[in-house]
Amino acid sequence: MRLFVAIALPAEAAAELDRVVAPLRPAWPELRWTGVDAWHLTLAFLGEVDEVVTGKLAPRLERAARRHAPVSLSLGGAGAFPAAARARVLWTGIHGDRRGLGLLAGSVAAGARRAGAPPAGERRGYQPHLTVARCRVPADVSSLVDALTGFAGTLWVASEIYLIHSRLEARPRYEVLGTWPLRPAGHNPDVL
Ligand code: 2AM
Repeated sequence: MRLFVAIALPAEAAAELDRVVAPLRPAWPELRWTGVDAWHLTLAFLGEVDEVVTGKLAPRLERAARRHAPVSLSLGGAGAFPAAARARVLWTGIHGDRRGLGLLAGSVAAGARRAGAPPAGERRGYQPHLTVARCRVPADVSSLVDALTGFAGTLWVASEIYLIHSRLEARPRYEVLGTWPLRPAGHNPDVL
């Protein structure tokens, strides 16, 4: 199964992004635009994981989530991988508690690794982003990056993580396999 671990986007945050992305889509039909329903913030992409290993992920992810307090995040700005002039991916950025998000992603990756599902592409490091569009062939999306640069969404608090099964069909289909809460603020996991 193709799996990844993510944070969900609240409907309001997705609606804000959609308001700025929707007017850009018609002029760029050659891009594969992601839609509101698919928007999420990936913490770790695990790739193909067999069923035995999948069964071992739940306790590891639960433990990783419990170690971190909820994180305040917002969407904003834009960029492209690997570069705006020859992009494969157009993204909007993540602001707010990026340090907390990075630490959470690190624990999730460590937990997945211990379960036997090491995240793919770990060498590149964690680059928090939300993919807005993919390019079938590398494209110059500088004008799209410029159009999205001023975007700044409102802050929200992420308080749980999701293990998601991704089926690659005409459009990727996502199925939630598990959800685990982050540690409520003020709760010390070492004191019962
Ligand atoms: P992306 O949004 O940058 O494409 C489900 O496919 C999630 O896992 C997406 O958020 C996607 O990131 C990420 N993902 C897919 N393939 C990946 C890979 N090979 N390396 C890292 N992340 C990947």
